[in-house]
Amino acid sequence: MLKTRFTELVGVDHPIVQGGMQWVGRADLVAAVANAGALGFITALTQPTPEALEGEIARCRTMTDKPFGVNLTILPAIKPPPYAEYRQAIIESGIKIVETAGNKPQEHVDEFRKHGVIVIHKCTSVRHALSAERMGVDAISIDGFECAGHPGEDDTPGLILIPAAADKLKIPMIASGGFGDGRGLVAALALGAEGINMGTRFMATKESPIHETVKQQIVANDERATDLIFRTMRNTSRVAKNEISQKVVAMEREGATFEDIRELVAGARGRLVYEQGDVDIGVWSAGMVQGLINDIPSCAELVHRIVADAEAIIASRLGGMIRA
Ligand SMILES: Cc1cc2nc3c(=O)[nH]c(=O)nc-3n(C[C@H](O)[C@H](O)[C@H](O)COP(=O)(O)O)c2cc1C
Repeated sequence: MLKTRFTELVGVDHPIVQGGMQWVGRADLVAAVANAGALGFITALTQPTPEALEGEIARCRTMTDKPFGVNLTILPAIKPPPYAEYRQAIIESGIKIVETAGNKPQEHVDEFRKHGVIVIHKCTSVRHALSAERMGVDAISIDGFECAGHPGEDDTPGLILIPAAADKLKIPMIASGGFGDGRGLVAALALGAEGINMGTRFMATKESPIHETVKQQIVANDERATDLIFRTMRNTSRVAKNEISQKVVAMEREGATFEDIRELVAGARGRLVYEQGDVDIGVWSAGMVQGLINDIPSCAELVHRIVADAEAIIASRLGGMIRA
């Protein structure tokens, strides 16, 4: 067992987190992660209403009595979802750990903390991590450029971002983006993090509620199989390379506006990828870590393997390198 400031803070066995994932972070996966002794997050906005989120939290509780959390992602939107109502549903459901992500979380951080909820804020730069620390969050999850989803616009890989953030932060920090095995966990700990957050790796597990074909595509893909879309709009998103992502990148290169690509990148199409298993029907998030994913284990197998490998690397491989 690996004990860190993070495992102590959130009360789980292993310093491993399954971060919020739109359309993927449902009760089935989160309960499996919790039962494996790691920390999973239900993705609030995957549920169509705050009431549906309450139902999903209740459903998760029927599958585990271990701690789990909810992710609340605050994204710029023309018609924003009712964030305050989702937040209220989280608090009233008795959730004690929340992962926030996105812009200006202050109002949410204040409300969650008032109700004794531990807040882990996920961000992609040292300056945003420091600003979240000042806001009073309990921990930071820092996403390097390798990550699936939104890596920000600074393009700082984890190898630099994690120690740079560790040098400045006082609160515990977990490292995110590009992690998938025991080697990555040891590297994160060596760089100053107190654990790892994984998205893509947890997509390719038995309990992940997505079509088998998508899981197999992740296994087949290598580390080059991602595209960065929305670069020209300064809202970069790392997605699995496919017909649509290539088309969007080409259109952006020609000066396309969001209106021009809106239909191609619609969330509803991405959702169909996961439901129907047609990996070319829409854009779907996946990270460079696809290059390190070679199987579809259960969450318990995955978590235990990562921890066992990390322990062996620390105790034998690294320990054995020290000369008397
Ligand atoms: C399919 C998918 C959907 C995601 N959706 C969200 C989201 O809604 N909110 C969020 O904060 N992060 C989201 N993420 C990012 C993950 O929580 C995590 O930070 C990221 O996957 C880490 O990089 P990795 O995939 O290399 O492990 C998503 C990631 C994936 C793979």
